[in-house]
Amino acid sequence: MARDGAVYVCQSCGSAQSKWAGQCAGCGAWNTLVEEVSSRPPGAMAPAKGARTRGLAFEGLEDEVPPPARIATGVEEFDRVCGGGVVPGSAILLGGDPGVGKSTLLMQVAGHAARRGVACAYISGEEAVEQVRGRAQRMGLSDAPVKLAAETSLREIVEGLKREKFDLVVIDSIQTLWSDAHEAGPGSVTQVRAAAGELVRLAKKRGVAVILVGHVTKEGAIAGPRVVEHMVDAVFAFEGERGYPFRILRGAKNRFGATDEIGVFEMGDAGLAEVKNPSALFLNTAGERAAGAAVFAGIEGSRPVLVEFQALVAPSAYGTPRRAVVGWDSGRLAMVLAVLEARCGLHFGDRDVYLNVAGGLRISEPAADLAAAAALASSALDEALPQDCVVFGEISLSGEVRPVSRMDSRLKEAAKLGFRRALAPADLESASVLRVTGASRLSDAIRRIGEADWK
Ligand code: TYD
Ligand code: MG
Repeated sequence: MARDGAVYVCQSCGSAQSKWAGQCAGCGAWNTLVEEVSSRPPGAMAPAKGARTRGLAFEGLEDEVPPPARIATGVEEFDRVCGGGVVPGSAILLGGDPGVGKSTLLMQVAGHAARRGVACAYISGEEAVEQVRGRAQRMGLSDAPVKLAAETSLREIVEGLKREKFDLVVIDSIQTLWSDAHEAGPGSVTQVRAAAGELVRLAKKRGVAVILVGHVTKEGAIAGPRVVEHMVDAVFAFEGERGYPFRILRGAKNRFGATDEIGVFEMGDAGLAEVKNPSALFLNTAGERAAGAAVFAGIEGSRPVLVEFQALVAPSAYGTPRRAVVGWDSGRLAMVLAVLEARCGLHFGDRDVYLNVAGGLRISEPAADLAAAAALASSALDEALPQDCVVFGEISLSGEVRPVSRMDSRLKEAAKLGFRRALAPADLESASVLRVTGASRLSDAIRRIGEADWK
């Protein structure tokens, strides 16, 4: 029997149970239940006896008050991911690996916004004020009127924010905050949930936009209970491959905008530079295209982005050949390899396969299937694709090449960057901006790659 008032909270999914167990009944994780003291049994509501209710005040769908203007921070790539600026009174959770540049990005956002007259505060629970100031100075933001504080006590932060009127507040990070109303340690589910709950309430009540930094676990999820993701209005992920300067801001949830929008940055000595034309950045335009490379004409959010797929197919030295993929889905790679084997007569059974998306971008569009297949076939056949050719199209298990969305924008972007032809789904053949080699079956496309007169 559990002690009175004790609940066992899973540190992974946040579900509360009345008895301790080795495995969480909510998410199946092992050894994640931790005892936390609660004044009420889990799931119970506040006492109902004698409580008075106001009754629901229903409203129509039409706006009576126009929505408040968004805060344009001046960091356009950030504003774009927000859906056209930060919504006053909204709460945003920003997750990302340690060292990816979350603090840098948010200092830049706060600094630029403050220069435009937005009242900004930056509260760090991880670094001292001098450290935060030093970073801002290196980024050339010393003149920006951002108010800095180093604090981890939730009570102090909330009181401080009530005393002064801010438009935008950055909290770095939610895992460092602790509330004296709870016994659990900082970073525990109870504390993270309490801190997020309190700050979201404050945001809504006082019309302050709050941006919370969230640490991520080894698996890449934002640490702490999923409930925090449900509490906030938007969840963004800041991503970047180690060794590359490019950083991608991606919306995972957004109540005020589309979630497929991305912001592209380049990390430099003076902070993050915005990349307005990502295509030029992810492409290797110098020299002949080597065998195994195919330029994919993709769409990220609302923008077309050209990026190079690089494949290497090599004899395997071991019994089990290796499959390694960076920037693309390994399940999708397995599927494309299977289709190449079954429908196009290429064999990978005794060969290692490496696939890499250049520049550190992560591609999730099915439209990239044909580009991956072309890169793999090009390496397997040792035949380079023409230098001026882009590739896109979805591949079905039966080996068909299917049309994809926004084919016109893809072709136009490719033409703008000097490409002259495309290997694409068949029904595009009549398109005028580029010379399109249409393929209705993957085997047709692969045969083309193997032909010497293709160039
Ligand atoms: P940081 O914002 O501290 O990462 P996070 O808050 O996500 O942990 O950024 C850390 C990295 O960024 C660090 O390795 C140094 C690098 N950096 C630059 O390259 N240029 C800069 O101007 C700044 C401020 C940081
Ligand atoms: Mg940081």
